[in-house]
Amino acid sequence: MTARFPLARPRRLRATPAMRRLVAETRVRPEELILPMFVKEGIDAPQEIGSMPGVHQHTLDSLRKSAEEAVGAGVGGIMLFGVPAAKDERGSSADDPDGIVQVALRKLAADLGDEVVLMTDLCLDEYTSHGHCGLLTDTGEVDNDATLERYASAAVAQAAAGAAVVAPSGMMDGQVGAIRAALDGAGYTGVAILAYAAKYASAFYGPFRDAAECAPQFGDRSSYQQDPANAREALREVELDLAEGADMVMVKPGLAYLDIVARVAEAVSVPVSAYQVSGEYAMVEAAARNGWLERERVILETLTSYRRAGAGQILTYWATEAARLLR
Ligand code: PBG
Repeated sequence: MTARFPLARPRRLRATPAMRRLVAETRVRPEELILPMFVKEGIDAPQEIGSMPGVHQHTLDSLRKSAEEAVGAGVGGIMLFGVPAAKDERGSSADDPDGIVQVALRKLAADLGDEVVLMTDLCLDEYTSHGHCGLLTDTGEVDNDATLERYASAAVAQAAAGAAVVAPSGMMDGQVGAIRAALDGAGYTGVAILAYAAKYASAFYGPFRDAAECAPQFGDRSSYQQDPANAREALREVELDLAEGADMVMVKPGLAYLDIVARVAEAVSVPVSAYQVSGEYAMVEAAARNGWLERERVILETLTSYRRAGAGQILTYWATEAARLLR
C-alpha cells in the first residue's frame, strides 16, 4: 500500500528564512577568518595585483590602514607576506631585522597586536632570487637540511619583530621541529606554530606568484609539496608536524581539498585551518566580472563549505569583506 502523503517532509525545516537560520548546522564567524596581506619594500603607493583584483601589494602605510579595516570588521588574524626590493640566493631579507616583513610586523604589533593575532608566512620563496622555498645545492636541488637553518633564523627574526604565530609553508622535512627548537632557544616559548602541514603542489597558487613575485625561475615545487593524488600522506605530514610541536595545522589549498580538511579535522584535536588560495579567489572574481556568478553568494557559500568540512580557521583574501557581510 502506498502512503497518500509523503511520510517525511524535510521541506518544513526549509520553509522560511527564520526556520533555516534556526536549524543551520554551520556558521561562519568573522573571528575565525584570517586575512593574508602583502607588504612590498620600496613602493610609495599600493599596487593592485593584476591577477587578484581588489588585493594589493601594500606600502607600510596602506598595510596599516587595511589591517585596521580588517580588525574593525572583526577579522581574527592577519597573515603577513613580505616582498623585498632585492632578492638573493639565500633569501637574506627573510631573517634581516630590517627586512620588510620584520619592519612591517613591528609596526603592526605596536598598533594592533592586542586586537588581532599577527601571523607570518615563514618560507624563503618570497626572498630568494631563484624563487624556490629553500637553499639550493650546486646542482640546483633544494637542500632540505641547510634550509632548516634559514627557517630557524627567520622564525626568531619574526618572533623578535612581534609575530604571535609563525607559519612555516616550505614543506621541508623537520621544519617544525627546527623552528620550535630555535624559538625556544631564543626565549620565544610563547610564539605558536601554525604548520602548513598538508600543502599540495597546486596550480591554484598561480596568482600568488604575481602577488609575492616568487615564481620559481626553473622547475617547480613538486619535490617538496605534496602530490594532489595523495590523501593518506596528508595525515602523515600532519602527524609529523604535531610530533615536532605544531600548535595548529593547515590544509592548503582548500576548495579542491575539502576531503583532506575533513579527514584531518577528524584525526586531530588541534585547530585545523584551511587556506582559500589565490587561484580560488581569482576564479570567482573573474567569473563575477563576466556576470557568470553571483559573487557574494559564492564567497559565503565557499566559506560555509570550508566550515562544514571541519575547518576552524579560514585564510581568505575576502576576509574583511566576508566579515562585513556576516555581521
Ligand atoms: C609559500 C607560499 C605560497 C602560498 C602561500 N605561501 C606559494 C607556493 O607555495 O607556491 C600560496 C598562497 C596562495 O596561492 O594564495 N611561501
